[in-house]
Amino acid sequence: MTRLIIVSNRTPGKAPAAGGLAVALKKTLSERDGFWLGWSGNFAEKPAKEAQFQTIDGLDIAQIDLTREDHKAYYAGFSNSILWPAFHLRLDLTDIQSHWYEGYRRVNAQFADALVPHLRPDDIIWVHDYHLIPLASELRRRNVRNRIGFYLHIPFPTPDALHAIPHHEELLKDLVTYDLVGFQAQRDVAAFNEFIAHEQMYKEAGGIPVVIDLGNTVLDAFPIGSDPDAFARLATSPNAQKMHKRVARAMNGRAVLLGVDRLDYSKGLPQRVQSYEKLLENNANLRRTVHMIQIAPPSRDTIKEYQVISDELDAAVGRLTGRFAEPDWLPITYVKRAYSQASLAGLYRLARVGLVTPLRDGMNLVAHEYIGAQDPEDPGVLVLSRFAGAAELFHEALLINPFDTDETAEAMRQAIAMPLDERKARWKRLMETARAHNVDHWAANYLDALAGTRAAEASHEPQERAMLAAGSLASGHATARAPLLPPWLRSVFG
Ligand code: G6P
Repeated sequence: MTRLIIVSNRTPGKAPAAGGLAVALKKTLSERDGFWLGWSGNFAEKPAKEAQFQTIDGLDIAQIDLTREDHKAYYAGFSNSILWPAFHLRLDLTDIQSHWYEGYRRVNAQFADALVPHLRPDDIIWVHDYHLIPLASELRRRNVRNRIGFYLHIPFPTPDALHAIPHHEELLKDLVTYDLVGFQAQRDVAAFNEFIAHEQMYKEAGGIPVVIDLGNTVLDAFPIGSDPDAFARLATSPNAQKMHKRVARAMNGRAVLLGVDRLDYSKGLPQRVQSYEKLLENNANLRRTVHMIQIAPPSRDTIKEYQVISDELDAAVGRLTGRFAEPDWLPITYVKRAYSQASLAGLYRLARVGLVTPLRDGMNLVAHEYIGAQDPEDPGVLVLSRFAGAAELFHEALLINPFDTDETAEAMRQAIAMPLDERKARWKRLMETARAHNVDHWAANYLDALAGTRAAEASHEPQERAMLAAGSLASGHATARAPLLPPWLRSVFG
């Protein structure tokens, strides 16, 4: 049987997973043969040459230790101080240190070395996220002929932001070394196309463009999902009910507005608190009858920008509390800690309003989970950022621009006031969509498309050939699903 080999920076661990990637992939691998390779979370004096295998929650997990120096350059440095902010269009928050790129590539090479001895010829390799863009190139260099797919969990940047990333040309070439590149949303496919179109126009204007030969690489959107029915069951499980009851008692009938996010500047948390402040400012009747709960487990806290956002949020919450709290009523509870899935499911079910208002986000699985956890007889309302990939799916949410705090405050008010019939009607459609886009469909669609790409042996000649192909920026791409380039662009590239 074909095995599935998942590779990502993080593997499932013992603690509750704070990011969407680990949660989604755990289910995918648990239903297939194979293993999952990632960083162990440990440091070693010398880069580990071999992966250590163990079983965690019934999954075969292979892990490698990195040196502290490599990890810093690869994870905190190139991945999270350059790629993450640039892909989220926060060039102002990038911190570019040129030596980080070498560490990034070194660790990708280390992942490849650790993987190769464990590969069988018909294994399918599925690489996840921006930490590992060069991995396919490293594997091909080691003569790996297997099918290799890549999935980007975060948004794809606009041409300007891409140009601001050091070595973006090489990274794009790495990307099209994969057989299949999956994005979260059509927005991301469009951004990729826009880059190609931009380079073509630049060339026509006499510039020297970035040359990308797509070869047979397929690129397409595969919006990730959760398991909404499992969340529905979880939301009425004993552990969820315990949390639900505990908080409901403390709320004493007040309407809860809930946010659950990693403490990250892409999540728009200070803007969210400001919007809530405006809600209270403009609607004196709501004071004492509502309460906001923000759960924000800290993340990447060795990086300065994450300390800054943490301080900003402390200040925003403090300002709000000082302004509106009464001796017997607090407007907000802010918790910097991760909770189990069951506890979160209980909280989602209790919340009248789910606040998913990132400034930019790949998908945002909290939106899916919130929908899954609702009581069909008394569902809450999802307030959702237009700039989350989820906005391409969930049209019945109240869609907002998170930079517009007036609009967000008004959506909060509307959500709290929404009559039961409308809440039920909207939720029913949202739940149908969450089911139609659940994690099983996502994985099956992606893996079917990967299986449909042409045999790796037939077409992966040395990458340099493709890259140096003169005369065309993007040439012949195979499409197992939908064509990547719109017709007008295809005619440009002939
Ligand atoms: C996002 C990224 C994942 C990452 C997760 C948690 O969801 O797409 O790749 O694992 O955040 O971030 P961390 O840096 O803690 O792994």
